[in-house]
Amino acid sequence: MKTPYGGTLIDLTVDVARAAEMKATAKDFASLTLDERGLCDLELLAVGGFSPLKGFLGKADYERVVAEMRLADGTLWPLPITLPVTPGNGVEEGKPLALRDVYGNLLAFLHIEEIYAYDKEAEGRGAYGITDAQHPAVAHLNRQAGHYAAGRLEVLRTPPHYDFVDLRRTPKELRAHFESLGWTKIVAFQTQNPLHRADEELTKRAAQQVGGRLLIHPVVGTTKPGDVDHFTRVRCYRALVDNYYEPGSVVLSLLPYVLRMAGSREVLLHAIIRRNYGCTHFLVGRDQWGLGAALGNPSQYRNEIGIEIVEYKPMVYLPEEDRYSPVEEVPAGVKTANISDTQVRDHYLAKGLQLPEWFSRPAVAEILNESNPPRFRQGLTIWFTGLSGSGKSTVAHALVERLAEFGRNVSLLDGDEIRTHLSKGLSFSKEDRDTNIRRVGFVAGLVAQHGGTTLCSVISPYRAVRDDARKMSKGNFVEVFCDTPMNVCEQRDVKGLYAKARNAVVEGRPMGFTGVDDPYEAPLNPEVSVDTSTLSVEACANKIIEKLIELGYILPHGHIVV
Ligand code: ADX
Repeated sequence: MKTPYGGTLIDLTVDVARAAEMKATAKDFASLTLDERGLCDLELLAVGGFSPLKGFLGKADYERVVAEMRLADGTLWPLPITLPVTPGNGVEEGKPLALRDVYGNLLAFLHIEEIYAYDKEAEGRGAYGITDAQHPAVAHLNRQAGHYAAGRLEVLRTPPHYDFVDLRRTPKELRAHFESLGWTKIVAFQTQNPLHRADEELTKRAAQQVGGRLLIHPVVGTTKPGDVDHFTRVRCYRALVDNYYEPGSVVLSLLPYVLRMAGSREVLLHAIIRRNYGCTHFLVGRDQWGLGAALGNPSQYRNEIGIEIVEYKPMVYLPEEDRYSPVEEVPAGVKTANISDTQVRDHYLAKGLQLPEWFSRPAVAEILNESNPPRFRQGLTIWFTGLSGSGKSTVAHALVERLAEFGRNVSLLDGDEIRTHLSKGLSFSKEDRDTNIRRVGFVAGLVAQHGGTTLCSVISPYRAVRDDARKMSKGNFVEVFCDTPMNVCEQRDVKGLYAKARNAVVEGRPMGFTGVDDPYEAPLNPEVSVDTSTLSVEACANKIIEKLIELGYILPHGHIVV
């Protein structure tokens, strides 16, 4: 049926002399910056992960793939691998197109032989079996340019990676590795999620059933929104493979591929890719196979794809016997236990609780907890907005001390102080105030990303820019509106600026002072409002603390995480 390591590999990489030549001439041609999917596809084409493809699909291949899952010559090929372009400006048939990453690195030349328009709807329906605009594959289709380009591809370098370099084996390297290990039966497991005990059990069983060894081959391109980022996942896989599998029974390698979420057709593509990486068997779950266009029994394709498809059996935990069993073998009435993905997120990680040992290996559970801290360990920006004299700084100082009581240590960014260094030289024009606020928001966002807390105390009179600041903290943002009436602020006039501003207006040289002759746009939905003319400083701080407890950013005193 097949050779042990999966037949001939396409290699599109050029030699050193040609690479130098390409570098020297690239500036004469149009450039295209590839998105993450384009980069992954280019890499897989270059190293033979998509063999027998020699490049992005031309029109005849593309149309038959969408309609019949076959290349023009009849070879089975499940999904379109294409390069979207906008024709013109040097993107023309007969000309080379320089393909680059976002950093401008020259990766490849596509010698354009064909540019063709395509029907997005037909591709969605035909290839993915989906027309729902919310679906990631369809959303991607709708975003991309309306033509595809194809032609001879010369790859100068594959997209550079600096993470987990030792785990990024090409098909050639992986085949050689298997050969050096003397492995002849290799079962590939595709995953985009952290692996728990049930996955560990099912992969071990599948290898045993086949009498082979295992390749854990996770995809590390963008998976789907909300999935665990690949850094965390790969740390989990490594912890698992290094500690809980029989030494010499498993290889972990990463696959640069962006999931299409295209159901059975994509499963077939995954199988072909794994054949190219030297595997003899590919593990597929019934639930994966059932999605998208119905393709019947997967094993009907084995001769054409050159790899055996093994159906995996979902596992479940039997607490009374402290072991895992395939779901289908559990006798009626026997108690089973499982934890869903949603429960993992909401009941364990969000509360800072470690997953139980029967569900996840402790090394994996620890990595997941560390990478997904509960809200009370996440970064936070507390944003005070309000008129000059509304009590922002006074309440902010009180809050800094209260927060320290709860173990949240805070850096304070106060308007007056910020304007002496970070925003030195900025005026009070709308434009400069916006710049000032964006700077403060940017710094707070950086701090929040790393688990820190910043308390910003700035007038920030414009709503839209405050909302920008909220985005910069990725939503970990609590807006506190110091809603003290204007007349009270003016009576207080701590710095004498209101009097000065009134005078200036009378004298016909207005200074644009907020509330006097410059606008203040009150927040529409602040998380907290405080009025320092009716509430004591202590009560204002308390009100904010209560809100932060309610939102989960601090734990009430006496609360213990077990
Ligand atoms: S913001 O509009 O850009 O958010 P920011 O909070 O940094 O203002 O600075 C406000 C402080 O600058 C006030 O507390 C006040 O002491 C001083 N200030 C000087 N001129 C003005 C002005 N024209 N409008 C408002 N505040 C002013």
